[in-house]
Amino acid sequence: PCHVSVQTSPTWTGMLLQLCISTLSYVLSKVCSYRTPRPPVSPPDRKLGELQTAPTPTSVNYHFTRKCNYKCGFCFHTAKTSFVLPLEEAKRGLKLLKESRMEKINFSGGEPYLEDKGEFLGKLVQYCKVDLQLPSVSIVSNGSMITERWFQKYGDYLDILAISCDSFDESTNQLIGRAQGRKSHLDNLYKIRNWCQQYKVAFKINSVINTFNVDEDMTEHITELNPVRWKVFQCLLIDGENAGETALREAERFIISDQMFQEFLERHSSVSCLVPESNEKMRNSYLILDEYMRFLDCRQGRKDPSKSILDVGVKEAICFSGFDEKMFLKRGGKYVWSKADMKLDW
Ligand SMILES: C[S@@+](CC[C@H](N)C(=O)[O-])C[C@H]1O[C@@H](n2cnc3c(N)ncnc32)[C@H](O)[C@@H]1O
Ligand code: SF4
Repeated sequence: PCHVSVQTSPTWTGMLLQLCISTLSYVLSKVCSYRTPRPPVSPPDRKLGELQTAPTPTSVNYHFTRKCNYKCGFCFHTAKTSFVLPLEEAKRGLKLLKESRMEKINFSGGEPYLEDKGEFLGKLVQYCKVDLQLPSVSIVSNGSMITERWFQKYGDYLDILAISCDSFDESTNQLIGRAQGRKSHLDNLYKIRNWCQQYKVAFKINSVINTFNVDEDMTEHITELNPVRWKVFQCLLIDGENAGETALREAERFIISDQMFQEFLERHSSVSCLVPESNEKMRNSYLILDEYMRFLDCRQGRKDPSKSILDVGVKEAICFSGFDEKMFLKRGGKYVWSKADMKLDW
């Protein structure tokens, strides 16, 4: 709305001025009604629409085996099958993920070091770092099968090694089932921590807080071990894995309340590397691939599988993953995950 007053007598200058004003107001009206052009709308295609909003598999957890040599009573990824993909098929799937913009792969299980005495895992780690050039390659293990030879062969290709330890009291580990026979879980933990330092792999610890360890104070041990991250999980129930009729474990007796979990966290508030994960944060904030390379959707409190990425591709399978990208970011899922970017004192 521009207001301009002009002379009304029809002189030449007046007429000229009138002409200028009307030209100017025409140009102005065009400028004011200008909108950014929209891309042409393609015909409605529900499937295409869904695929376009598919989350990016930035960080993926590949549980390539369900077999394990431990018997943790609360375990939520149990030996329901003994299937493991042939190595070349696993590599093909990892390549598909990389083409869909995966940046971080974490190998888990079951126990990832069981298959072919750690060779299957080592070859995948090397493939992901050397061939796929992934910024971050990591492993979560119970630590019982790792050898110094493995570090010599594959340590260069590994960014982070997380070892699970739920207690610094050996008898509590035995009660939980976090052990193979009478072998010391803690001796392994300290040995691996030293190898990580020697072979330049970032060392991490995972602990599941449950009824058996909730009153423990782990501050001193964690401070001494000095991991880059200490993940502290509230023990989680998953129907069909560690709860319900078809489950191989019964984890109800391990479950703690939110308040008990909070008290544990408060007791360890001086530990700066602690990263807490309540049930709420944990449930949908991981992209989990099972032994067939199917995404597992945990939204219903159980693990519902998608089709395999090897059969339908990443974009279609990931739509059935139940992945909550916002929660992934909220729980700090994106962090400095390449050892090259960590300021570590090797
Ligand atoms: C399923 S395990 C597989 C890797 C390896 N066997 C290990 O124990 O580290 C992966 C991680 O999940 C954790 N975990 C297992 N059962 C859990 C549960 N019910 N709630 C929360 N975390 C759990 C383990 O402690 C471990 O850190
Ligand atoms: S949590 Fe325990 S039982 Fe489950 S896979 Fe890991 S070591 Fe094995």
